[in-house]
Amino acid sequence: MTAVDDVKSRLDIVEIISQRVPLQRSGNSYKAPCPFHQEKTPSFHVFPDRQSWRCFGACATGGDVLSFVMKAEGLEFGEALKQMAQVAGVTLPQRGQNPQNEAAYKINEDTRAYFQRTLASAQGVSTREYLEKRGVDKQAIEAFGVGLSPSDGESLKNHLIREGYSPEELVSAGVVRVGDDGVSHDLFRGRLMFPIRDAHGNLVGFGARTLDGTEPKYLNSPQGPMFDKSRILYAMDRARTGVRKNGAVIVEGYMDAIAAHQAGFKNVIAQMGTALTEFQVDEIRRLTGKMTMALDQDAAGQNATLRSLDVVLQNFRTKTVNKQRPDGTTQTVDADPRIIVMPPGQDPDEVIHRSPSDWTNLVESAIPAITFRINAITGRGDLTSPEGKARCVAEAAPFIHLLAGGIQQANAIEQLAGNLSVPIDTVKAALSRPSVARRTRQPEQPRSAASTASPFAKLDHDPMEEYCLQLLLGHPEVREMAGGLRPEFFTRHENRELFARWLDVGPGMDKDKTLAAVRRDGDDEVTAQLKTLTEKPMIPSDATGRAKSLAEVVTRLEERNLKNLKMEEVKRFADSPPDVEDGEQDDILLLNEQIKKNEGLRRGQAQEISG
Ligand code: UTP
Ligand code: MN
Repeated sequence: MTAVDDVKSRLDIVEIISQRVPLQRSGNSYKAPCPFHQEKTPSFHVFPDRQSWRCFGACATGGDVLSFVMKAEGLEFGEALKQMAQVAGVTLPQRGQNPQNEAAYKINEDTRAYFQRTLASAQGVSTREYLEKRGVDKQAIEAFGVGLSPSDGESLKNHLIREGYSPEELVSAGVVRVGDDGVSHDLFRGRLMFPIRDAHGNLVGFGARTLDGTEPKYLNSPQGPMFDKSRILYAMDRARTGVRKNGAVIVEGYMDAIAAHQAGFKNVIAQMGTALTEFQVDEIRRLTGKMTMALDQDAAGQNATLRSLDVVLQNFRTKTVNKQRPDGTTQTVDADPRIIVMPPGQDPDEVIHRSPSDWTNLVESAIPAITFRINAITGRGDLTSPEGKARCVAEAAPFIHLLAGGIQQANAIEQLAGNLSVPIDTVKAALSRPSVARRTRQPEQPRSAASTASPFAKLDHDPMEEYCLQLLLGHPEVREMAGGLRPEFFTRHENRELFARWLDVGPGMDKDKTLAAVRRDGDDEVTAQLKTLTEKPMIPSDATGRAKSLAEVVTRLEERNLKNLKMEEVKRFADSPPDVEDGEQDDILLLNEQIKKNEGLRRGQAQEISG
């Protein structure tokens, strides 16, 4: 039995949930008003025989005792498991023991120590001077493990081999690389080394800054399952508590994050030189509803930045706040992403070293991301003509449609109207005119929020769906964690079909039997996809890690499905002829209400059919 099963088998879901929600018996199950959304009639059910819960109302979610605790307390899977293990009196095995990763972490740790010693040695004199000049003090160097890679390209490799590692292990950990000549060398040479840890503190790789102007400025560990820039937030392992307490502040560079922590700003994390991804935004959202991004003046107006901001605006919208109400239930509030545009030519790093209070002021005067986004549109529009203003509204339309909740939309509309110097009602009317919404989807228009909603939109496969299926097919024991999955969450035909077949297989089968049952003749596309999935290497993980990954991917698929439903609604609305629903069309806020209702309804139906 896995630790997860062990914990669950010792708990009674009714008892755990009734400590937080006033349950009433109803036949074989228990019910209550759903703690996760506002309602009068109870649609939240707990089933003792299946040890599961489900909301048949607007939020239409469900799961086991662990997913309930995650949702109710705003915890990650591991945290909820820890809490429940305590209640159940189970001692959990130590976290995350994947042998291959563990070996690589260990090599990275030895590498880090070696780089630190090199920095402290005679070789490191000028680098130490450089760090001093940049204001990085000894404690910060130590705390972040900053080091120096020897410039000869051999020393690290030789050292690690003397320590007993094989050359192959060093290559697969990413610290040594085999050159075109077939000879292996240290990957990093004569660079300032920043160890990079994942959110749990595992040393997953390095960022290496040039000290002599050699390109690239930063060389990073090879991208792979262990070092995945789209998932890592630099300094998150140290910033977690600070972020929970004071909200997240996101800067661009390693040096910026180190400067911030040195000055006592413990809630600062850094992007990894790429746009923020849904995964990263989600990670932050689980900790806080407050997030401030410091943008480089040069980058701030660029399309890539604006698109990245749309990822934030669409994913960082609501946050479940723990125990807001006296009865211990949770409450959902609008998240509040904000933007700092750095003064020209300045880095957070310089500002913080020069004057911590200037930095505090910058953070406190950050403007709402919505305002920033609207300003970016009107700032480059032609506001002298009615046509120019109409174009601004058209450009803003898709992004406004995708905002959650009346308040955020109302803010955006008000802001837009203010910038354009037109009455709010005029903007509302224009926004709800089908031609406006339609125009925004024509190719010559700037890329809209909708077209960038999913980072996977352009791929001819869907990594999220594939990853989910790999888990389900390769590890049948995760089946019980997959209760929230619905066929409609899979957008690609072949994936949906595979999921449907997997559902048919039913529980209690091992991997080989599952695969045999899923494999069927005909439909080449599905067969080919199954082959791809079974041959594709999985990120190695243990049972706890897999359960956690699955819980995450189920949530993300579900959220994406919700978003898609909403976009469909927006589109249908825009395409319908104006005279049909004329009366309702002049208020976009009304529309949003409608969409929400529809979502709830559909999902409720889907639930009843398949659940
Ligand atoms: P910056 O060029 O702003 O560097 O890149 P920095 O970290 O502020 O360093 P200093 O202050 O010039 O010493 C910001 C971040 O972008 C990523 C790194 O994560 C860097 O911290 N980056 C930048 C790369 O990954 N590769 C590059 O070549 C450049
Ligand atoms: Mn910098």
